Amino acid sequence: MDVKRVVDVFRVDPESVGNGTPTERAPDPELGTDIIPAARYYSPDFMKLEWERVWTKVWLLGGRSDDLKEPGDYICTDIGKESVLIVRQADGSIRAFPNLCLHRGNRLRPEGRGNAEKFQCMYHHWTYGLDGKLEHIPDLCTFVQGGPDGMKLTPLPCVEWNSFVWFSLDPKVEPFDDFIDPLKRHLEPYHPERMAWMRDITVEWDCNWKTSVDAFSETYHVQGIHPQLKWYLDDVNVQIDCYGKHNRYLIPFAAISPRVAMPSQIPPAIHEIMVHAGMDPAEYEGRVSDIRRDVQLFKREHGAAQGKDYSELNDEQLTDDYHYTIFPNVSVNVHADDVMLFRQRPHATDPNKMYYDIWMFGLVPEGEEWPERVRHQRFKHGDKTIGQVLDQDAFNLPTVQTGMQSDFFPGLHIGDQELRIRHFHKVLDDYIYTHGKGPDDL
Ligand code: FES
Repeated sequence: MDVKRVVDVFRVDPESVGNGTPTERAPDPELGTDIIPAARYYSPDFMKLEWERVWTKVWLLGGRSDDLKEPGDYICTDIGKESVLIVRQADGSIRAFPNLCLHRGNRLRPEGRGNAEKFQCMYHHWTYGLDGKLEHIPDLCTFVQGGPDGMKLTPLPCVEWNSFVWFSLDPKVEPFDDFIDPLKRHLEPYHPERMAWMRDITVEWDCNWKTSVDAFSETYHVQGIHPQLKWYLDDVNVQIDCYGKHNRYLIPFAAISPRVAMPSQIPPAIHEIMVHAGMDPAEYEGRVSDIRRDVQLFKREHGAAQGKDYSELNDEQLTDDYHYTIFPNVSVNVHADDVMLFRQRPHATDPNKMYYDIWMFGLVPEGEEWPERVRHQRFKHGDKTIGQVLDQDAFNLPTVQTGMQSDFFPGLHIGDQELRIRHFHKVLDDYIYTHGKGPDDL
């Protein structure tokens, strides 16, 4: 079809989408121009402060609700030196506990997923119910002091939101709604509960977790390490918004970087976007500079017939990358048809190592069968490819981590395109230097 003949009757103005994702630019916070000290990326002392004042004080992403469909389904996820069990209860609620046996501290389950009727420790068979209560101690009469205090695993705060489960190591953590504010309104219109697992990978990287968060917080590096993306996205006209703890940028996709000349032919990556939308690039009669808008109009017109409900998204969301950092460690690219999420977790003891989780979800059109869940893979950096763009992202991280430890490197020299990095570190400082209080308490 001639998509140029699609008329603007299908246009949806961002402002008209009810409570949809806000598009207005947030005022830039005053963050100064100081260097960001390098030591925080490798200092064991700073790592200890982060553990005491950040990781044990915030809400953390634990997994997906659809991995907890049935009573007894559990996710076991590690964060630093801790491991947490998140368990679906018989009444449909979820509970979370430290993943350890109260007898002599054995882990109850290895990291991963599963289903259990009870959690029996593999060592001496102390047995816990799905609700964390200690139900059985073999030879209890030999413990003259009785069972452990409380006879149950410590309940940890946990919630489900937007198809994901969240937990905290802090029993007195602030309410989740306060923590996540204002991102509910931003992210709920994407309906990730309509999306199925496409990739589930953990890579061990030789860098600090913040080196990774920084890497996904700016588009300045596109011209340096992703030259092919200059014919796929506009890395210059990027809107940056900083909120209380979290931040985002909005990148136009299906666009050409102003760093290069506008091509006369459709670049391969944009060709792919058109095909994925259901368009026939061979029949496209417009200019390359019109494609982004025409893809939006096409998806607006044909989405419903394809079983894809875009009604809560504005036109730009039908093509663009809205990328959020959910403090402290979640970087998430949300798109109309998929979500690509990175969870960046610290190593238990070494500030120069981290775990990089890649979680990808694809929209399942209405009426189509829900695909089988992909298997989790785990490997070290370099052992396998994680895709061209992410391989490019990963390439410099170990050498950045090494270089930052030089006596000749005082800290990060940050430009305006990297404002989100400065904001992220300001929030981190607020947590660290106000002894675990959130930045809103300052
Ligand atoms: Fe678990 Fe002994 S450590 S039963």
